[in-house]
Amino acid sequence: MARVETSSSRPYHLVIFGASGFTGQFVVEEVARTVSEGPKGNLKWAVAGRSKQKLEKVLEQAAGALSKPELRTEVDIIVADVEEPDSLAAMCKQAVIVLNCVGPYRFYGEPVVKACVENGAHHIDICGEPQFLEGMQFNYSSQAADKGVYIIGSCGFDSIPADMGVLYTRDQFKGTLTALESFLTVSSGPEGGCIHDGTWQSAIYGFADSHKLQSLRRKFNHKPLPTVGSKLKRRGTLFYSNEIQQYTVPFMGSDPSVVKRTQRFLAEEYQETPVQYGAYAGIGGIGSIIKLMFAGMMFWFLVKFSFGRNLLIKHPEFFSFGLFSKAGPTRKQMEASSFQFAFYGEGYAEGEDPSQGKPSSKIRTLVQGPECGYVATPIAMVQAALTILNESTALPKKGGVYTPGAAFAKTTLIDRLNKHGIQFSVI
Ligand SMILES: NC(=O)c1ccc[n+]([C@@H]2O[C@H](COP(=O)([O-])OP(=O)(O)OC[C@H]3O[C@@H](n4cnc5c(N)ncnc54)[C@H](OP(=O)(O)O)[C@@H]3O)[C@@H](O)[C@H]2O)c1
Repeated sequence: MARVETSSSRPYHLVIFGASGFTGQFVVEEVARTVSEGPKGNLKWAVAGRSKQKLEKVLEQAAGALSKPELRTEVDIIVADVEEPDSLAAMCKQAVIVLNCVGPYRFYGEPVVKACVENGAHHIDICGEPQFLEGMQFNYSSQAADKGVYIIGSCGFDSIPADMGVLYTRDQFKGTLTALESFLTVSSGPEGGCIHDGTWQSAIYGFADSHKLQSLRRKFNHKPLPTVGSKLKRRGTLFYSNEIQQYTVPFMGSDPSVVKRTQRFLAEEYQETPVQYGAYAGIGGIGSIIKLMFAGMMFWFLVKFSFGRNLLIKHPEFFSFGLFSKAGPTRKQMEASSFQFAFYGEGYAEGEDPSQGKPSSKIRTLVQGPECGYVATPIAMVQAALTILNESTALPKKGGVYTPGAAFAKTTLIDRLNKHGIQFSVI
């Protein structure tokens, strides 16, 4: 069972590392909002990062935004730098869980995971980079298990809605769900919206290095997951989706990789039927296709060379047609934005044999919520942490490196998310 108690030497339930980052500041606010949901109605927490002044500023800003002046004085500050292992060790020794918001994770993530494993802190990140997530699984699974530490990756918009959405749909289906497709749509208000530069940089280096992911996957030497029921057909690279009434492309984020890892874990650990999964994202009408093709071609060309990557990093707004920006979205833009995952599943009704004939039954579910990057992500990350603290007996028996679905399949995380505006429903 996970160790979740604080003590005199480990005084904080949560330490938010990278609290001064664009996303980190909103995680700070979300933690401040949810202190009463901690163990015994209390949550002891601190912020951490490499600049004390910036962390003080973040607390000052959160105090103003939430009208909680006590945040200025009551929240402790820990100075820790990824480049200084001793500072990371000192931080991890004081935390039950480190909420790690320092990215791109491919550059800064591993020393933090290592320090958590070595010093007995659980680790939650909001990484959307499969290479990092799977690399940590490869490098730290057995050490984390030996230490009883839970390293749970991709606990933000990447990939809690998709991974938990698959489990939710499976659990609502009356029979054996065998295949599921999700269609993501994102809406913004009249002032538009965008994603902060931090995620743009993670994407640039992720694509530049994508060949390394293939060789990492070979090292796991996994047997292919068995296909139960009719094989799910892959759609094309661009198609008009009748499901969401717009042009659609395969979803390029971490969701398919995370869902697949979850399904593998649940099949191997609990002999559950693996669900085949396809992830797609709506892009809109013809105008959006032209923009996407143009931006995509420039991106694919430039990302291969270091001068190209520097150009992309210097000018996120220009090369992404305003989808990414160095300033990030305003609070007003965030308030008017939302996301929706529409899941379309099929399978075999109760009593039917999934190895015989075609699927006989269908299901539709929705996972919807507020702005993805800086509203839904902090909610998902903080609720994941609260689930560890409050439901440690429902986590997998051993520590290890887990996906959200693997870690939280037997917990009430979905109910918690429902209460916080990330809603799961059958339609
Ligand atoms: N899953 C999702 O849906 C989702 C959503 C949002 C963000 N993210 C991910 O979250 C990560 C952060 O994104 P962001 O936009 O918040 O980036 P950001 O604003 O650039 O923040 C990066 C943070 O890392 C800190 N940092 C950098 N180098 C460090 C070091 N050597 N030691 C300690 N701290 C260091 C920065 O500290 P300083 O303030 O001192 O510079 C800052 O706090 C990215 O990987 C992004 O992809 C994921």
